[in-house]
Amino acid sequence: MTGIAVLGSTNMDLVAYVARAPQPGETVTGREFRTVPGGKGANQAVAAARAGADVMMIGAVGDDAYGAQLRSGLEHAGVDTDLLHTAEGPSGTAHIVVDDSGGNAIVVIPGANGTVTSLGPGEMAAIAGADLLLLQLELPLSAVLEGARVAHAQGVRTILTPSPVQPLPDQLFDTIDLLIPNEHEAAALSGHVEPHAAADALLRQVPEVVITLGAKGCLYASRGTEKIHFPAPEVTAVDTTGAGDTFVGTLAVALGEGRSVPEALAWASSAAALCVQKPGASTSMPYRSEIDAA
Ligand code: RIB
Repeated sequence: MTGIAVLGSTNMDLVAYVARAPQPGETVTGREFRTVPGGKGANQAVAAARAGADVMMIGAVGDDAYGAQLRSGLEHAGVDTDLLHTAEGPSGTAHIVVDDSGGNAIVVIPGANGTVTSLGPGEMAAIAGADLLLLQLELPLSAVLEGARVAHAQGVRTILTPSPVQPLPDQLFDTIDLLIPNEHEAAALSGHVEPHAAADALLRQVPEVVITLGAKGCLYASRGTEKIHFPAPEVTAVDTTGAGDTFVGTLAVALGEGRSVPEALAWASSAAALCVQKPGASTSMPYRSEIDAA
């Protein structure tokens, strides 16, 4: 079984479903409200566990009711939470508006995630013993840097989702094996809006890139090979929240199992397509049997 360490965030997602998102200064009446366990790190952990990996979550929840729910949600998915600390204060929350096209806008309040500024010996050993490390940018950059450095030094494959996007130091890029931005993040990091140009620029910093393009699929690029565009399965999206995390978590499992890049991307695309057809983040992530059937 592939061993995956996730160094990342846990958030309680507070989701409002509306016909259309409000403009600045406008109030709209929504249709429904849900609380759903989320956070980019936790979502990737759940996606990878449901896809068949042995997953360890490294991060923090708060000592509030949300913290207990976030922890038990991960445990219910089969994720090891021994290194998910409980910090004093509130858990992370994400305030999400989902419109009728399934698109979303998100504000994240880090809460306990902000307390994860460095790693202890237990966290470092867990990362060093994994096959892959999944990273995002909802924890303080100091911890992300440290985790990536430990993994890189031990030959553990590192996959970074650069979200929420921010300027990144070269020392982080130097330790990343596979970068998976969406098209907005790719443009922000590379200065190129066109995905092929963005991929070329990002390949100067990391050896492999997958730019996710939503309903248009994804673009895979690695140094010295032709780029490959993979179309996404055609489905009707209800809620795209967590689709990128599903893609990353399942792609990591497939790559860890030694599948070819095209096969792994096809599998991950099927998983993401299943995710967007149900509401919520962690609640909509498919199990391995469902991905195989799709
Ligand atoms: O990627 C989706 C996630 O982003 C949500 O679950 C929310 O918590 C935010 O972190």
